Amino acid sequence: MARSFLRDDDLTPAEQRRVLDLAAQLKADPFGAKPLAGPRTVATIYDKPTLRTQSSFAAGIAELGGHPMLVDGKLAGIGVRESVADVARVLGRQASVIVWRTFEQAKIEEMAAFSGVPVVNALTDDFHPCQLIADLLTIREHKGGDLAGLRVAFVGDGACNMGNSWLLAGATAGMHVVIGAPEGYAPGEDMFAAAAKIGAETGGSARWEQDPVAAVAGADVVVTDTWVSMGREEEAAARLAVFAPYQVTEELMAHAADDAIVMHCLPAYRGKEIAASVIDGPRSVVWDEAENRRHAQKAVIAFLLEQG
Ligand code: NVA
Repeated sequence: MARSFLRDDDLTPAEQRRVLDLAAQLKADPFGAKPLAGPRTVATIYDKPTLRTQSSFAAGIAELGGHPMLVDGKLAGIGVRESVADVARVLGRQASVIVWRTFEQAKIEEMAAFSGVPVVNALTDDFHPCQLIADLLTIREHKGGDLAGLRVAFVGDGACNMGNSWLLAGATAGMHVVIGAPEGYAPGEDMFAAAAKIGAETGGSARWEQDPVAAVAGADVVVTDTWVSMGREEEAAARLAVFAPYQVTEELMAHAADDAIVMHCLPAYRGKEIAASVIDGPRSVVWDEAENRRHAQKAVIAFLLEQG
């Protein structure tokens, strides 16, 4: 089975550092590596809305010398017209890598099991690991090279893909991750257990705080995300009420470290999970994060191809 990137803990701490180094290198020299020269084809499939992911993969694959092939998941009828396993077997014969944004994590795992080529998770209900590589690269750029020991507060819907990914990727980087979320919206126990296990090796840690002020106290990095993830639109009204006290405002930021930065994977809803003055203010690094998706994903693809 080819090496895939399906969840954040698919990379060991050393591999995560290597991917981040590679991403920084590719950012400094965007056309310096051409592992997809040919051009070799990367199949990209988006079953949920996308802007950053589709555009950054397409641009990044081209920069690596390759060709981004957009496969329409609805036309293909993945899992409906034919099984995920059969789609995987077919795409694996056409493409060197498969990039997929979809719903269930089990489906992308099935794709990876049958494709014979690396599969990259471009967001599932459970994880958004490419975003985390971009985010860690961004933090390195703004906080100096060493991620270990930095304190991250993820405030809002901790039970979404971004909350899970922060626990695993943050622990892998040796960071201290606090999820500031209401009861019922923290990541599952299995995620905290996985983060704790990684943290035992890296010195990282993970915990949940119901109080948003306690969550951000002294944080070097404050992160938020939409309160209504893709696929949860019917819960929007209830969620807006539950999460209202968790908006990242100037007042909340006053409890973080003086030089704390603010992150958001976007799309952002100003006046909901984040105040306009914060996301558009001097601590915000969200546009760097968006740019870094390209560099991060190029590094992920180059790393997986070099693993054979
Ligand atoms: N948690 C969000 C991330 C968007 C990039 C969602 O799944 O919609």
